[in-house]
Amino acid sequence: MFKKQLAISGGSTTVPQGIAKSWPVITEADEEVLLKVLRSGKLWGTRTPEVVGLQEDWANYVGVKHCLAPQSGTAALHMAVAAAGLEPGDEVITSAFTFIASASCVLHHNGIPIFADIDPKTCNIDPKKIEEKITDRTRAIIPVHIHGLPADMDEINAIAKKHNLLVIEDACQAHGATYKGKKTGALGDMACFSLNGSKNLSGGEGGLFVTDNDDLLNSAASVAMFGEIIKSGEARKYNASHVGWMYRIQEFSAAFARSQLRRLDEYNAIRKRNCEYLTERLSKIKGIKTVEVPDDRTHVYFMYRVRFDPHEAGYDIHPRKFREIVEKALYAEGVLVGQSERAPVMAQDVFQKQVGYGKGCPWKCTLAGRKVEYVVEDYPEAVSLCNDYTLVRGIHAPNGLELMKAYVEAFEKVFNNLDEAIDAAEKVSHNPAYTCELFGGIF
Ligand SMILES: Cc1ncc(COP(=O)(O)O)c(C=O)c1O
Repeated sequence: MFKKQLAISGGSTTVPQGIAKSWPVITEADEEVLLKVLRSGKLWGTRTPEVVGLQEDWANYVGVKHCLAPQSGTAALHMAVAAAGLEPGDEVITSAFTFIASASCVLHHNGIPIFADIDPKTCNIDPKKIEEKITDRTRAIIPVHIHGLPADMDEINAIAKKHNLLVIEDACQAHGATYKGKKTGALGDMACFSLNGSKNLSGGEGGLFVTDNDDLLNSAASVAMFGEIIKSGEARKYNASHVGWMYRIQEFSAAFARSQLRRLDEYNAIRKRNCEYLTERLSKIKGIKTVEVPDDRTHVYFMYRVRFDPHEAGYDIHPRKFREIVEKALYAEGVLVGQSERAPVMAQDVFQKQVGYGKGCPWKCTLAGRKVEYVVEDYPEAVSLCNDYTLVRGIHAPNGLELMKAYVEAFEKVFNNLDEAIDAAEKVSHNPAYTCELFGGIF
C-alpha cells in the first residue's frame, strides 16, 4: 500500500485548512435580541428584562427554584463559597484536576483550598479520596464536572451529609449534562456555571448561580451586590451589611445567553454525536484511551479528551514525551489538539509560593491560618493525566462528521507512522497548546 508521509515530516495535511468552524454559532435571532437590548436603553442593573428572563429560564431548564446571573463563573463560585458561610481559614475540598477558579474562589474568601485526587475512570474527584481530607475546618466540597461529565454525586453527597458539609457543583463545563436523570446544577446545595465564549452555553462572558435554598440565594445575591440586601419591591437602601462585590452581569450577555439557551439541547446533541463517533473510531487504535461514560450519566463534551499510552502503542517512552510527539504530529495534520491545564492545580505558583493576600494570608494568618503543603506527587492520578491527555477542539456545532472523519484519518495516519512521528517531532520545538482560536477569545 502507498505510504503517506506525515505532515510533520513534509507530507500533506489530512484536515483541510479552514473546515473547522468556530464557536459559538451566532444566528440572526442572536443579533435581533442584542439590537433589541440596545434599542430598549435598559442596559444595566439586577432587574433588567434579559437578566431576569435568563435567571428564570435557566432555573426552569435545570429544575431548581432559584438562579442568579453574575458576570462570570468565577464570580458565581465565589458567591457560593461566601453563601456557604466560609470564614477565614475554613477549608473547602475540590478536585486536583480542574481549572484554577474551582480552587481560587475559596482563596477569594480567605479560605484554604484542599485537594483530592481524581478517579482515572472519570477524571473527576475520586469520592474515596475525600474523607481523608476532611478536618474540623472543612465546610464544603466542590466537585467539578470536568470536560462535561458529571462527578459521582451520590457518593459525594453522602460524604457531605455524614460530615455536615455543603456541596457546591462546579458545573462551569457541564451545561445540560445529567446524572441519574437529573441535570447538573440540581445535584448539590448550590451550583455554578460559566457563560464565557468557549462554554456549551455562551453569553460572551457571564455566569450562573443556582440553588433550591432561599437563604443561600439571599446570601449569594447580597455578595454579588456590594453586601446590600435588596428586597423585591422595596427601594434600595444603600446600606452594605457585610463585605460585598460587584458581580452584576451585562444585559447584553444575558440576552445573548438566553437566546443561545433556546438551542443548547440541539448543540449538545451535535457534540454528543461528534464525540461518540470519535470514541467509536479512536478506541480501536492501540495506544489511545478514549472517554468512558458511566451508564447513569450523560456527557455534554465541553471538551473531547483523549489519553495516550506509549506502552500499549509499543514504545518505551515517557508518557509526557510520547503525548508531546503525538500532539505535534496531529497538529501538523490539521487536528487542533493541545492541553489546557499542564499540571494538577496545586502545582501552580499561587499554591507553591503561598503569597496569597500578602504576608502569606490565608495560610499564615495569625488568627485563622494553617500550614498546608501542596505536594504535587500526592496526586498521582492527576499527575498521570497531565502527562498523557490532550484535548481535541472543533467538536462543537456547526462542525459535523465531515470534520470528525478527517480527524480520525489524521489519528490513524499518525499512529500508523509513529517511528516517523518520533523522528520528525525532535525537530519541531513548538508544542501545540489549547488556545481560543476557535472560540473567539483573545488573550
Ligand atoms: C471548571 C471551571 N470552573 C470555573 C470556571 C470559571 O468560569 P469563568 O471563566 O466564567 O469565570 C471555568 C472557566 O473556564 C471552568 O472551566
